Amino acid sequence: MTARYQLALYFAYRFVTKQWWDIFYWSSARVTHSLMRLKRSDRLTDHQLLSLLSWHAHQTEKATKHRSADPPVKNPRGFRHFDALGHYLAEAERRAGLIASDAATIEWIREIHRVYEQWRATPGWINITPPDTESSASTSSIIAPHDLAALIEKRTSARVWKPVGISEEIIRTLIDAGLQAPSSCNRQGVVITVAENAFPRDVKEGVNNAYMLNNAPAIFYIANDPTLYPERQAPALDAGMAAQNILLLAETFGLAGCAMYHSESFDQKKLQRELQLTRNLYIYVALLIGYPNEVAKKPRRMSHQIRARRIRNRAD
Ligand SMILES: Cc1cc2nc3c(=O)[nH]c(=O)nc-3n(C[C@H](O)[C@H](O)[C@H](O)COP(=O)(O)O)c2cc1C
Repeated sequence: MTARYQLALYFAYRFVTKQWWDIFYWSSARVTHSLMRLKRSDRLTDHQLLSLLSWHAHQTEKATKHRSADPPVKNPRGFRHFDALGHYLAEAERRAGLIASDAATIEWIREIHRVYEQWRATPGWINITPPDTESSASTSSIIAPHDLAALIEKRTSARVWKPVGISEEIIRTLIDAGLQAPSSCNRQGVVITVAENAFPRDVKEGVNNAYMLNNAPAIFYIANDPTLYPERQAPALDAGMAAQNILLLAETFGLAGCAMYHSESFDQKKLQRELQLTRNLYIYVALLIGYPNEVAKKPRRMSHQIRARRIRNRAD
């Protein structure tokens, strides 16, 4: 079945099952990605350009994990991503500031470009590194599984904090943790802005969201650029992934935090101005973090019986 026929069937299915908005969203995002961006790459922000590069690099590298054609063909697997990679790489090479600030990322992208060329020219090669190399050392040598499980279990939201700031070094480490999170197709759309409150700011009426926003020593705003994603839900998921990394690592420093839903609950334009973010960056969630000044009681979790399912011996 040709790709076009498959696509037509997919749209027909979506249409019949009344998923019109999904069709519209998906197709308009695809058009934006594949046509407009390619033609106007000089108009992209550095972040958008790097995000598109990271996405195409990811897809290009994935293509090389398949056996290359024998004999070599004109349009091998992943060639569109490879072409786009070359196109955006040329734009990146024109931006001296970007080459300086993100040298390691650009080098990683150049390397993928080179590997793809080599893969394309080498019949039968599959670019998969076997696991007995140094680079694939097991994670269990870094942290014991039960330690991480205990940390996950211990984490609970705290909403009252000591009026003490968080060191610069810890804030940077927490930002790093957020940026290390997985992202859909490696788009790396998440942008983290940390705002710190000055003290003392105690408001006595009790703990509500306004109190928390006024009194949290540090607020990590997690934004993402939905225009980078053809998938509708992925930007929110990516924001959540980054958020959880930060909340978990914060616990290891004796900090405690609480997530606060933002999205449509807050005036995005106002917040974008305050945080000096461009209009394409949507603030999904904020993490309010500090040294806790309460013994927070963790809400009990429901049982596996209620919230977990197991499917064994799943048929193909
Ligand atoms: C996306 C998200 C949004 C949240 N928004 C708020 C909020 O606006 N205010 C608040 O006090 N807690 C908020 N929370 C914290 C939840 O209430 C809390 O995670 C939940 O009660 C479970 O408790 P635990 O985090 O202590 O395990 C939010 C959590 C998430 C994941």
